[in-house]
Amino acid sequence: MSVKSFLNLCFKYIFRHDNGESISETNRKKLKVPIPTVLSMELTNHCQLKCVTCPLHTPAGARMIKGFMAFEEFKVVVNQFAGTLTSLGLSGLGESLLHPDFQKMVTYIKARNNNLTIFLATNADLPKFRQILEPVIDKIDSIMISIDGVGDVFESVRLNSKYERFIENVEWLIAKRASEMQSTSFNMVVSAENQSQMKDVVLLAARLGIKYVGVNPMNLVCREENYESYNIYLTAEFAEHLKDARLEAAENGITLSADYFPDPLKPRIASDCVFLWDAFQINWDGSLAYCCAKPYPWVFESGNVFKSGLMKCVNSSTFIKARKVALKGATPPLCGKCSLVSTDIFDRLEVGQG
Ligand SMILES: C[S@@+](CC[C@H](N)C(=O)[O-])C[C@H]1O[C@@H](n2cnc3c(N)ncnc32)[C@H](O)[C@@H]1O
Ligand code: SF4
Repeated sequence: MSVKSFLNLCFKYIFRHDNGESISETNRKKLKVPIPTVLSMELTNHCQLKCVTCPLHTPAGARMIKGFMAFEEFKVVVNQFAGTLTSLGLSGLGESLLHPDFQKMVTYIKARNNNLTIFLATNADLPKFRQILEPVIDKIDSIMISIDGVGDVFESVRLNSKYERFIENVEWLIAKRASEMQSTSFNMVVSAENQSQMKDVVLLAARLGIKYVGVNPMNLVCREENYESYNIYLTAEFAEHLKDARLEAAENGITLSADYFPDPLKPRIASDCVFLWDAFQINWDGSLAYCCAKPYPWVFESGNVFKSGLMKCVNSSTFIKARKVALKGATPPLCGKCSLVSTDIFDRLEVGQG
């Protein structure tokens, strides 16, 4: 695999989205899925931050039992799938670097399959960020750093964070990741409060030497806000801010991914979403998440991967029912209000498509 295609692969999964190429059209039409190519394992749903966007800090999130994935259970899943996966994410809700076995887990994966791409999403805010990452930093192929603005705006979204410490940690990380094979990116969740800073985040990336920036809508699939909150991405003001960010990105040689904002010219239906067919997430306790944006175990009874095995869970009757609805061109009830199913959003907002 060339360096370019490797980076393309990483980039695709950095943002936990897929343009539909990795999973074949044949498999996408099947109700029962084959062994996944991409998997995420939530190491913990504990987190030191309280981001205002996060599914963890909603009334439903507050009901979630908090914990750490057991290393023994982790090993069983890795042993079974390391040979067939192309990418393994060590993220879900929570901050994976808080897991006491984080280093052991990274080392274990690479010992099983050194070619398996490891992806990590991090808030890069822990005071011990460097000590935790340093021993395994060369083993993690793709690191996505979450940044929801700069300075005070960053701290007002990522509650409990310290912007200064974050910047120091990111500077350290960039200095350590000299290899072209290791991608490092920023991910920004855009809202009315920080939209004017998309450009600033791109400029910061340029200053620090980060080549990839993703700007994404705040997904409301698990939140209390109603559909009207998506209106912000349809305004002229938002379009202007995005245009400014694109210009800065082009001038600074940065790849800016902004493909997942609702766009009436590019409507997306539920069957376009990879998460119904691939890229599954196992929560820390073994429950299967409906998807990474809707991880609450009680909304989706598909069994426990540690008890029944992954394949039984991803082909449970509840998942098959959702796929059936999606393949008919409709929106499965659990996908309602998801930013990745824009036709559902446009129907609710009565926005004309095409
Ligand atoms: C849930 S976090 C977990 C990893 C880590 N704690 C972090 O913040 O990077 C993964 C990513 O989801 C993003 N995120 C949080 N709430 C979101 C929402 N409502 N919609 C879309 N992305 C969201 C975060 O900003 C982060 O980039
Ligand atoms: S740092 Fe990540 S997991 Fe923690 S509250 Fe923020 S988005 Fe959620």
